[in-house]
Amino acid sequence: MDLLRLLSQMTIDEKIGQLVQFNANLFVDSDVDITGPMMQVGLTKENLKNVGSVLNFRDANEMRAVQDKHLSEDRNKIPMLFMMDVIHGYRTIYPIPLALGCSFDEALAKECSKMAAREAAADGVHVTFAPMVDYVRDARWGRVMESCGEEPMLNSRMGAAQVRAFRGDDLRNPDQLATCVKHFAAYGGAEAGRDYNTVELSEHVLREYYLPAYKACIDAGVDMLMPSFNSLNGVPAVANEWLMKQVLKDEWKFGGVVISDYAAVHELLTHGVAANNREAAQLAFACGCDIEMCSGAYINHLKGLIEEGIFTEQQLDEAVLRVLELKDKLGLFEDPYHGASMEKADAVSLTPENRALAKKTAAECAVLLKNDGVLPFSIDVKTIALIGPFAQENRINGVWSCKGSEKETVSVAEGVQALLPDAQIVSVRGCGNEWNDFDRSGFAEAIDAAKNADAVVLCLGEPQDYSGEGNCRTNIDLPGVQTELAKQIVQANPNTAVLLFNGRPLAISELDAFAPAILEMWFPGTEGGSAAAELLFGMCNPGGKLSMSFPRTTGQCPIYYNHPSTGRPKPAKLDGKRLHYTSNYIDCGNLPLYSFGYGLSYSNFVYESMLLDKASMTKDESIQISITVHNDSDVPGQETVQLYMRDLVASMVRPVQQLIGYEKVHLDAGECKTVKFTVTEPMLRFWNHKNQFVSERGEFELSTGYADHLLHTKRFALD
Ligand code: BGC
Repeated sequence: MDLLRLLSQMTIDEKIGQLVQFNANLFVDSDVDITGPMMQVGLTKENLKNVGSVLNFRDANEMRAVQDKHLSEDRNKIPMLFMMDVIHGYRTIYPIPLALGCSFDEALAKECSKMAAREAAADGVHVTFAPMVDYVRDARWGRVMESCGEEPMLNSRMGAAQVRAFRGDDLRNPDQLATCVKHFAAYGGAEAGRDYNTVELSEHVLREYYLPAYKACIDAGVDMLMPSFNSLNGVPAVANEWLMKQVLKDEWKFGGVVISDYAAVHELLTHGVAANNREAAQLAFACGCDIEMCSGAYINHLKGLIEEGIFTEQQLDEAVLRVLELKDKLGLFEDPYHGASMEKADAVSLTPENRALAKKTAAECAVLLKNDGVLPFSIDVKTIALIGPFAQENRINGVWSCKGSEKETVSVAEGVQALLPDAQIVSVRGCGNEWNDFDRSGFAEAIDAAKNADAVVLCLGEPQDYSGEGNCRTNIDLPGVQTELAKQIVQANPNTAVLLFNGRPLAISELDAFAPAILEMWFPGTEGGSAAAELLFGMCNPGGKLSMSFPRTTGQCPIYYNHPSTGRPKPAKLDGKRLHYTSNYIDCGNLPLYSFGYGLSYSNFVYESMLLDKASMTKDESIQISITVHNDSDVPGQETVQLYMRDLVASMVRPVQQLIGYEKVHLDAGECKTVKFTVTEPMLRFWNHKNQFVSERGEFELSTGYADHLLHTKRFALD
């Protein structure tokens, strides 16, 4: 397609139309009601015809109908782009991204994204608003469920893997989706874990922790980028010149399409940095925001800003060209449906292979937090009691489940019954899981069921709408009376394992003190119940490692393993004494209950040694590290071998530890494997106070194990 020629034929209004996006419902029927909110936005039937992209539509039929109508009315015949939040599956739902991080498995993330792309593209989606790679430290924030957690390298690798798999090498391929990385930047740093709240972060912290994952997605070829809702150091992201121009365009040379978040351009008014929509349009467009999502600043004011000479028509053309280029890359000028049809969608969705992948992924993302030996249960148990609000619950897909229907989702009860058809299974709810539900009237029946069972599975957690956008909590305990119920159930029958369903780390110290076993399932998706059953009864061996630390109590938030050293660290051992004047809480330790990188297995992995091939290196050399792990058990399993680094003396305070490498390995029963890592000088760099990315000579410590349990620590020097 000759895009420049096309551009030269377009009027200013038509060009501006390419830079706005609205919900599909506006386009569905011709008698659409442009009164009420849409009239306030300034939409008219006339300018609706020029709109270049839509979000949130029903299915392939609806996409085709809207596209057909649009093409019949648009004299330039420019197809619309259809976008949606395909975050962790489309019709087949795999675990939420925070869980996916726990797999430490980019290959698996890729398989999942590919599957989601195929299902979504067949149903008419051209672009997914994914991956979300916001770096997170505060579990109160509901959107931690969309992120891969508190580790910049893990977040970067997982983000890049998703970009590559969603989009493939050729967007014309009807099985692929274009991608949009979000939310740029540091949306996960919202103060006090409250959504949309302000973010204040120093530049070196931003560059070291928060920015790398967005950059990794750009390097992986991401097509679009979405600035975040939050203000960053005083300026809302979409109008933040430093962020959008200096970092994104000048330093990173991002040439893809920038789209605002939902109504975020208009929200510059509520932020109080624009007096009206005209100013809002001016600020956002000047900062390189190409498309405005769901508000009316561009459609009403961009033309005036050009006519008044604030922007040139060439600036407009450049933005429009970026949008047209994306449409062209997707092949929409030749096939405006990108191969989508209801028949294709039905044929590729929820297939047995897709379900199998969802099950495998749910099992690999589960994290065994505690096991006093009750798990795995014997498959010969005769009677099983499934107790708790999640025992029969099929609302375990998590939010952002697109077209994933709960009716298609396997609950724990269904999964266990299918796995053990001859077992006698009793399901009792026992109590609710809302924060203000203190009803204990179901306890007696649940305790009775526990007493009469050979094995008890307690299915606890928080409702799925307690996490996700706008769903933040000040108290991340298990809601309601679930912990109380659990205590009584364990007393009634100690052969009890807890399954947890949640979209964020929870503060479960009390439960941890008495529960014989705890298996974190997160929101596991369509095959969550079948994966849980296989894990409980030993057909699968848990191998997930936490992507985000679990605090002992909400008051520890934000808590993260890679925190900077302080001048007064708490001594490792206090022997019960209270110590004044150290960085410490009076009523709680500093360590989380379970830290990043932690997770048990039914195998017993022994870290036998960690060897370095030399004790020092110059900037041009490297050091080889060999870590030998032994599966000292009869159970084959997977272990994620982690390599941590600490810079002992530097010109800036450095984190107490930092993950610099990981590899997931499979070990048969009794097998020994040596995992090799190479440390090079760039891995030792950090952002110094002059905002230079440098390494400094001196000593470094390397360890394996995981954040709170480092093993085989060895030193080397950078000469
Ligand atoms: C969210 C984005 C999402 C957009 C479109 C916004 O509210 O913050 O993550 O992509 O809506 O659905």
